[in-house]
Amino acid sequence: MGRSRQVRVHLVPQFVDPGQLAQATAVVIDVLRATTTIVYALAGGCRQVLPVAEVEEARRLADSLPAGKALLGGERGGLPVPGFDVGNSPAEYTPARCRDMTLVLTTTNGTRAIERAAAAERLLIAAFVNFSAVCEQLRRDPRPLHIVCAGSDGEVTLDDTLLAGALVDFLCEETDCELNDAARLAWDCFENHGQVLPAALELSKGGTQLAAIGLASDIKLAAEIDRFAIVPELKRDPPRLEVGAVGIVKRHWHK
Ligand code: MLT
Repeated sequence: MGRSRQVRVHLVPQFVDPGQLAQATAVVIDVLRATTTIVYALAGGCRQVLPVAEVEEARRLADSLPAGKALLGGERGGLPVPGFDVGNSPAEYTPARCRDMTLVLTTTNGTRAIERAAAAERLLIAAFVNFSAVCEQLRRDPRPLHIVCAGSDGEVTLDDTLLAGALVDFLCEETDCELNDAARLAWDCFENHGQVLPAALELSKGGTQLAAIGLASDIKLAAEIDRFAIVPELKRDPPRLEVGAVGIVKRHWHK
């Protein structure tokens, strides 16, 4: 029998020790909304996404790019940052706006989770909108896997945990996996809530916050499974997210 696959879930980024990631693949999840938005931006034609933790750093980086080629996007408190070109709503990332642009993106939790996981040998971005494409990549990847949920200000969130559980379900239903307890919890979460996806996202902390600021339509966009067939992947020097793989061999969502 082959060796079992190591699959670890970290329900908030603070639970990951970057030292664990050196020879591993990390998948970063922020369903509402950073990783969903990154998929939209690259699918919409952005050449690359530069994830940045702080607002001022994002402004400086965008200013250093060739004129007319930078899109400065993100949120604080869920709302667009004053002076930015775009917020963090997936719907804003249209092909007309994105084509050939470099998106400099800063969000409260998502871009920080990416920064935290950047020590991984390979880093992929997952959302429901590219679920099966991510599954295909992970199926072929022999490295230990760390699924890093962005959570919300240090709190565990239902939306990210649910997607982490869906990935665990895909990877471990038929293959022998060595799981941590958070992976088991996430798997249970998927078993319980996977069938009622948009409603579960509405219930989550991020979902209720988005509804409160009039952005409930973003939840529906984030819940659309397999809308896109791309997997954003972190490239180095400078750190940037680009389309790393394209193509869904098979739809893997089974709820
Ligand atoms: C985040 O990174 O915290 C989220 O994407 C928040 C949001 O979209 O409002």
